[in-house]
Amino acid sequence: MAKKLVTDLDVAGKKVIVRVDFNVPHKGDVITDDNRICAALPTINYLVEHKAKVILLSHLGKVDHKDPEKTEADKKKNNMAPVAVRLQEYVPNSKVTFVNATRGPELDKAVAELKEGDIVLMQNTRYEKGESKNDPELSKYWASLGDLYVSDAFGSVHRAHASTVGIPSILPSAVGFLIEKELKFLGDAVENPVRPFVGILGGAKVADKLKVIDNLLEKCDTLIIGGGMAYTFLKAQGKEVGTSLVDEEKIGYCTEMLEKAKALGKTLLLPIDTTIAKDFPDPIDAPIEVSVVSSDAIPADMQGLDIGPKTAELFANAVLAAKTVVWNGPMGVFENPTLAEGTKKVAAALAECEGTTIIGGGDSAAAAKQLGFADRISHISTGGGASLEFLEGNGLPGVDVINDK
Ligand code: 3PG
Repeated sequence: MAKKLVTDLDVAGKKVIVRVDFNVPHKGDVITDDNRICAALPTINYLVEHKAKVILLSHLGKVDHKDPEKTEADKKKNNMAPVAVRLQEYVPNSKVTFVNATRGPELDKAVAELKEGDIVLMQNTRYEKGESKNDPELSKYWASLGDLYVSDAFGSVHRAHASTVGIPSILPSAVGFLIEKELKFLGDAVENPVRPFVGILGGAKVADKLKVIDNLLEKCDTLIIGGGMAYTFLKAQGKEVGTSLVDEEKIGYCTEMLEKAKALGKTLLLPIDTTIAKDFPDPIDAPIEVSVVSSDAIPADMQGLDIGPKTAELFANAVLAAKTVVWNGPMGVFENPTLAEGTKKVAAALAECEGTTIIGGGDSAAAAKQLGFADRISHISTGGGASLEFLEGNGLPGVDVINDK
């Protein structure tokens, strides 16, 4: 059933708690990529224009609550204050008040004094131990700060935390425009794709993508497997892969998937050639000597670190012929310029493809940005873990909890 959208709520004069995902990459106080702040602006601006009193909640990084020394260090590292400064630049007509607390008199006062169209951003929700436990007492306290709840933290809706599930279990709720957009792109692609539908999966480990492979194999017409995880598939086909990354325990699973593809009449594309080197680059962007061999001729003392040029062409042609493409995971060690060619070719094909192209967040989104193709992709998800959960066919607790229309 469709979820309520922020436009279904009467927000004027109301205190609206908005869970955003401001978990932005940062080095100390310097935000290195503010895409997630920008992605939440349509909802924030709507609320401001419609005279809501906006209370923003977000996590930033992880905070260890087991070791007190580590807790303090994590809190220091993941302070939300610089995010408030950056947000203020994007909403010049509103006053953004940062509250360096997650509960207590300072927060209560800032909320009580909030004017229509203004914004309070509180400190990192993960400063609270109860946040990731969906603690009922914490949820009740946070819910008491507002009248309504809007979820726009797509990157966090796979987490059943106090700020994502606890509060909307108490307050009337709706999703924001970012979640609406994410669910539309990812949902249409998986449930109602214009065909041919091509899925591309990469990244290091098969174990991380078991359910995605299984689910996408059923949904798409062609499934492409590249990156480190391809070597376990090649091994399952009886090929020798030298010292390439192989998840021995998952060879049986890969055999099962190869058989499943055949039984369903789906095309499963694997690398036909491979860029190899003796050792993994250390540091990751260190100069490296490579050669290219056929995927069934990897020498015993060498490892595959990128797809080869013939494979890149094979994959790119499949992408160019597609009407819907979903991509998650790089084709090789793209952080190293010598090993970025395969990922680059695939990203370029997505940029050229005339169909709908979607990149699940995480490394492939970073790769598309780093390689300069981001603005030619139909949709780059702001959620790494969340988009993977979605592609696995799992529910998203932070969306499921939101009131239906
Ligand atoms: C992300 O970066 O994927 C989201 O912000 C969720 O972060 P988490 O994995 O720390 O919950």
